[in-house]
Amino acid sequence: MRLLAVTAVALSLWTGVPAAQTSRPTGALTPHIEGVLRNIRSADKGLLAVSEEDGRFLRMLVAARGAKAVLEIGAASGYSGIWLGLGARETGGRVVAVEYDAQRAKEADANIRRAGLTDVVRVIRGDAFAEIPKLPGRFDFVFLDAWKPDYQKFFDLVYPRLEPGGVFVAHNVVNKKNDMEPFLRTVLTHPSLFTTIVSPSHEGMSVSYKTR
Ligand SMILES: C[S@@+](CC[C@H](N)C(=O)[O-])C[C@H]1O[C@@H](n2cnc3c(N)ncnc32)[C@H](O)[C@@H]1O
Repeated sequence: MRLLAVTAVALSLWTGVPAAQTSRPTGALTPHIEGVLRNIRSADKGLLAVSEEDGRFLRMLVAARGAKAVLEIGAASGYSGIWLGLGARETGGRVVAVEYDAQRAKEADANIRRAGLTDVVRVIRGDAFAEIPKLPGRFDFVFLDAWKPDYQKFFDLVYPRLEPGGVFVAHNVVNKKNDMEPFLRTVLTHPSLFTTIVSPSHEGMSVSYKTR
């Protein structure tokens, strides 16, 4: 810790940038975090985690939106939660990640700790339909990656609490589109959403911007 502080001061003298700025944690992918992500992926026998490309895209979106209040629905073992957390670390925001499988929630918690993101990402164990109504405030970024037939119900639950200017992202809208037809129809035709479908990998994500 002391070494870090001394390094930050030395760097600030050298660059002319105040020490508080050079030592600020950022959303950079360190070799340590890369290792944590790799381990999650190699233990992920059910192939639940998003792809690395999708993870990178999520980090970029959170940072580009300047999101401060991020909600993840379906955390599994914390893979996407780490990418969201890196984005939120960049913005000074926070992520709440909900997971109802007890074992996976425990793993997510441990992986977030290993990645050094406990100050940014909080894992809540429980059914998101029951847990989200207990959370205070509004969200400016939502990432939905729970069971696909539930997407429309989750959208209905969360949309009223999405800030105008907020972003709603849903996963697997290309490779599992048949399991979520009502949801896709809703986001693609909603009068207050600009929605586009992107495919950083083959799974696809809908990205919806709330206009008002
Ligand atoms: C595809 S996985 C999520 C993968 C994760 N986003 C990642 O990339 O690391 C879907 C997860 O959603 C969880 N899930 C499904 N329905 C849920 C609900 N109603 N509440 C909380 N978690 C839920 C499942 O237990 C599962 O772990």
